[in-house]
Amino acid sequence: MNGGLQLTYQRTELFAVCPPGLETWTADEIKGNGFKRVQIEVGGVSFVGHPISANLTLRCPTRILQRVGRFPAPTFQALERGFKKLELDDFGGLTAHVSCSKSRLYHSDAVKDRVNRWVNQGSTELYVRIHRDRCTVSIDTSGERLHRRGWRLETGPAPLRETLASLLLRVAGWTPGIALVDPMCGSGTFPIEAALRAADIPPGMGRQFECEKWCKKQDQPRVLKAVPTLILGRDRNQDTIDIAQRNTERAGVNPSLETLDTSRLKAPVDAGLLICNPPYGRRAKNPRAYDQLGLLLSTEFKTWSAGIIVSSPRALSALKRPPSRVVPISNGGLKLNFVVMEPEGQ
Ligand SMILES: C[S@@+](CC[C@H](N)C(=O)[O-])C[C@H]1O[C@@H](n2cnc3c(N)ncnc32)[C@H](O)[C@@H]1O
Repeated sequence: MNGGLQLTYQRTELFAVCPPGLETWTADEIKGNGFKRVQIEVGGVSFVGHPISANLTLRCPTRILQRVGRFPAPTFQALERGFKKLELDDFGGLTAHVSCSKSRLYHSDAVKDRVNRWVNQGSTELYVRIHRDRCTVSIDTSGERLHRRGWRLETGPAPLRETLASLLLRVAGWTPGIALVDPMCGSGTFPIEAALRAADIPPGMGRQFECEKWCKKQDQPRVLKAVPTLILGRDRNQDTIDIAQRNTERAGVNPSLETLDTSRLKAPVDAGLLICNPPYGRRAKNPRAYDQLGLLLSTEFKTWSAGIIVSSPRALSALKRPPSRVVPISNGGLKLNFVVMEPEGQ
């Protein structure tokens, strides 16, 4: 591929898909990583940059789409005209997904039939969205979803997606340098995502992305800016800690992991963030987890801020600290809240 085309990809219009409600924090990361023209939309964030560098460096999005066209589509003729102007051959074979809303073309299967006649069939995902008679066409650049970093080959009970863990660390205001404790860390998702960020290791390192079919990796040697950070993961289950330990080794980081019940946990320093995805739902083996966390927050971790996933109003009241922020999230098909709490007395 020649240099001119590489420059073109530097300015590609991209869309980072993220869980609804978490767009602000996704946008913060995208801006912080130096991408341009960052704009929040529903369910994601649009911006401009190189597709490979977006997939390689962003920790929060679920996947990255490349916008390839936008045109009016009030009729099938207009849709066909718009489609035939797109240069889709570069992307290889495609699988179309169509959604229609508030438009004269309302039958998504009928639209999909037409689209399938105009594009080569294959495995790269093509998204056709018709909204208010306007068609937006996007191509998936990620391939396998971005939470599959490659290091979490084993999990404990009810794991959190890596991308969601990275987002919640941002929602809680954590940045490298701030001490972090996850007292019920399971397979280690929070400590490992935090340790990767503190070590400045790109989340997509060693991975291949769908867009490598049509654009090349940029040769940009980076100087890592690691920030020494105290990161602890604890869990009362020895087998789960063994899993977390193997995950950290695969990730190439080294947070402190130990088998310990929350009732015996001591704060390692005076201030930091306690973050936790406690057991909840019908299969939870510890119905007292929120009471135990509430006790920690009013004693050992009084001077720490906290970010905790809560499953019910009763769980929130057991924490015995008023939240400064409540963000609705979903995990494993359950509707939950992530609550952020300031240190006691602030
Ligand atoms: C929902 S899982 C955490 C999953 C984790 N965030 C992940 O991504 O893998 C909850 C964990 O809390 C642990 N746990 C429950 N009660 C505990 C206690 N009193 N002390 C320490 N760990 C506890 C369980 O062993 C389980 O691994």
